[in-house]
Amino acid sequence: LDNGLARTPPMGWLSWERFRCNTDCKNDPEHCISEQLYKRQADLMVSEGYRDAGYEYVNIDDCWPAMERDKDGRLVADPERFPSGIRALSRYMHSKGLKLGIYEDFGSKTCAGYPGSEFYMQIDANTFAEWEVDSLKFDGCNSDPKDMPYGYPAMSFFLNITGHPIMFSCEWPLYEIMHKLPVSDYRTIAKTCNIWRNYVDVEDSWDSIVDIINMYGKDEGNFSAAAGPGGFNDPDMLVVGDYGLSYYQQKAQFGMWALFAAPLMMSNDLSSIGADAKALLLNKNIIAINQDPLGNQAIRLFEVPGSLSVWVKKLASGGLAIGILNVNNQGTPQKYTTAFSDLGFTNKNGYVAREAFENKLLGKYALDEKFTIYVDPTSIYIMIADPL
Ligand code: DGJ
Repeated sequence: LDNGLARTPPMGWLSWERFRCNTDCKNDPEHCISEQLYKRQADLMVSEGYRDAGYEYVNIDDCWPAMERDKDGRLVADPERFPSGIRALSRYMHSKGLKLGIYEDFGSKTCAGYPGSEFYMQIDANTFAEWEVDSLKFDGCNSDPKDMPYGYPAMSFFLNITGHPIMFSCEWPLYEIMHKLPVSDYRTIAKTCNIWRNYVDVEDSWDSIVDIINMYGKDEGNFSAAAGPGGFNDPDMLVVGDYGLSYYQQKAQFGMWALFAAPLMMSNDLSSIGADAKALLLNKNIIAINQDPLGNQAIRLFEVPGSLSVWVKKLASGGLAIGILNVNNQGTPQKYTTAFSDLGFTNKNGYVAREAFENKLLGKYALDEKFTIYVDPTSIYIMIADPL
């Protein structure tokens, strides 16, 4: 979407995967969906260095509104859980150099049963602009997805004419896929949305991560080609720092999402995150791959199902980020020997290569020269290769 936003994949934090629809602030005040939760995570984003690493959006998900609109049909935040209101919350974020994202639904109700935007799209767009909200995630529950090719562009238009820049996060292709409808043309989606979900919700498990990666590897309809400055495919949140993935699997998710030019939206509790996960999320070299100005989305060159797959993302420098993912959980690193020419690269002077997580120089390789790497079980190896 050509609105000046998301020229590189947006980065931030989103409450859904980790905090869900916990509205029980009486018994669980630390973790319920409330202004306190977003403020606390925002404070940590600043004090722990996430903001300075590029994480910018603090995104509200489902379960924030009151069950009824006001007498003018406007949304109101739940008065118990958001007593200061959304406008105060967006100001809080702005005072910290952060941005606030909000959530609504294309249908009559959100997935969790809160008021949806159906018949209220323009009023809601105006409300979000008045609240100085910086992004909108627009879900698709309780709707007829056949209306989405008209409705999502309408919402995009209403947001645009508010004059307030709002990064637009859509779930349009996901609901078409879930309802077994033909998926709208990704180029049209990319003209309407800044980011768009096209697959099921991420869960806090390795199976979920592998499933999403496989879907992106198949690249049905060549959706990778729609990614670029202003618009990116969204494989859903990062679960780095949560319960379900080993360190090596977290490395794999973070590395693959970087290669995918995916939005990097953490869904974790920054107040209890481990040191390893934090170091991963703050890894400058991996973030730089994700934020590369070309905005290219990695494609899978080939895979040995259940074992290694090789992925390539083109970089603005003319170099390549090459990911070698190992989904095999046999407990020893997998040996992989290849040459740049074997991978289909053609620079006749060869390449200089670096390992990306540690930013370690590997050396210069002639085009046909074989080299060997080892990929940890259920993990990833990423190499940056620059033509010589
Ligand atoms: C479905 C979406 O795909 C999720 O990311 C989340 O927003 C939930 N709905 C909220 O109900």
